[in-house]
Amino acid sequence: MAILVTGGAGYIGSHTCVELLNHGYDIIVLDNFSNSHPESLQRVERLTGQSIKTYQVDLLDKKSVERVFAENKIEAVIHFAGLKAVGESVTVPLHYYQNNITGTVILCEVMQHFGIKNLVFSSSATVYGDPKQVPITEEMKLGATNPYGRTKQMIEEILRDVAFSDPSWSIVLLRYFNPIGAHVSGLIGENPNGIPNNLMPYVSQVAVGKRPYLQVFGNDYPTIDGTGVRDFIHVVDLAMGHLRALEKVQSGKGIDAYNLGAGKGYSVLEVIETFEKVSGIKIPFRIVDRRPGDISICYADPMKARNKLNWKAVRDLETMCRDTWSWQRNNPNGYNIITDEHTPVQ
Ligand code: WQD
Repeated sequence: MAILVTGGAGYIGSHTCVELLNHGYDIIVLDNFSNSHPESLQRVERLTGQSIKTYQVDLLDKKSVERVFAENKIEAVIHFAGLKAVGESVTVPLHYYQNNITGTVILCEVMQHFGIKNLVFSSSATVYGDPKQVPITEEMKLGATNPYGRTKQMIEEILRDVAFSDPSWSIVLLRYFNPIGAHVSGLIGENPNGIPNNLMPYVSQVAVGKRPYLQVFGNDYPTIDGTGVRDFIHVVDLAMGHLRALEKVQSGKGIDAYNLGAGKGYSVLEVIETFEKVSGIKIPFRIVDRRPGDISICYADPMKARNKLNWKAVRDLETMCRDTWSWQRNNPNGYNIITDEHTPVQ
């Protein structure tokens, strides 16, 4: 029996595939490669010494999704596939609703048709919107403030309705805080298309010389040094959280949500300072205006995941920065391998 990983070629998906394979699971990857690169899966195969059965399929193509389930014995699904750029979602909301929500509905319809009702869903702390207090617990009121976040919140509601309609479903909603870092090998990592929206990939692109300096979006927040504070979590810790969630869906029924965060907040300047310390590289930056929609401080209370998933983040900020730098230094152009006439393609 296999685990279907939708979006398995993506940043968190590829890191989760490594841990699934290393822990003895059979996996199948479904990805449309619209926001990921097949090279990431080749690297996962290299890292684990195992081959991955991959389907280049878009979740909106129901016939193809049905074929994946018809051709394989799937026991559970980890659903990463989705668009996730907050800024982009504001400009093309219908694209986000169609891709993220309709794609998930189609996936669940096909799962239901094949009698497969174990699902781990990639949600996000963005469903909390601007929290009234920190640390954030799962019981706090949801209130996403952008179309991307609203797709995650709506999907959570849809999945709650599905679980209520049919108690044989077993669903875990994982609310990620700020995933950063990379596999210690430096072979896989975050590979954003175009100009990075997120802090850490931007910092690492400055370090590798792809960007001249980092813009720090505001230093007038009510925080330790005026810059934004976030709960950064190592992507491998996050991947391990999915294995715990898989065990949970396979051992029970119903639906529940869990925060996957380290439970500690670091400021933008603290991240820059830590990255400089572990890389030995100065990161030039300029303080600019706040980014619209940003919140000042956000970090998790991770106790529910610790107590009910037997999971906690163990990698510290220095490790997150060191592993990020190892990936970026070895892959200055991410998975877009640029070869000149002298370097044969491997
Ligand atoms: C972190 C801090 C910025 C870039 C987003 C999504 C969320 C989730 C994680 C998907 C903030 C500051 C950033 C830069 C900066 N994604 N910053 N200069 O906004 O907390 O969360 O990514 O689920 O949904 O909202 O992460 O990395 O963009 O920003 O100063 O060039 O870094 O202002 O304080 P964010 P981020």
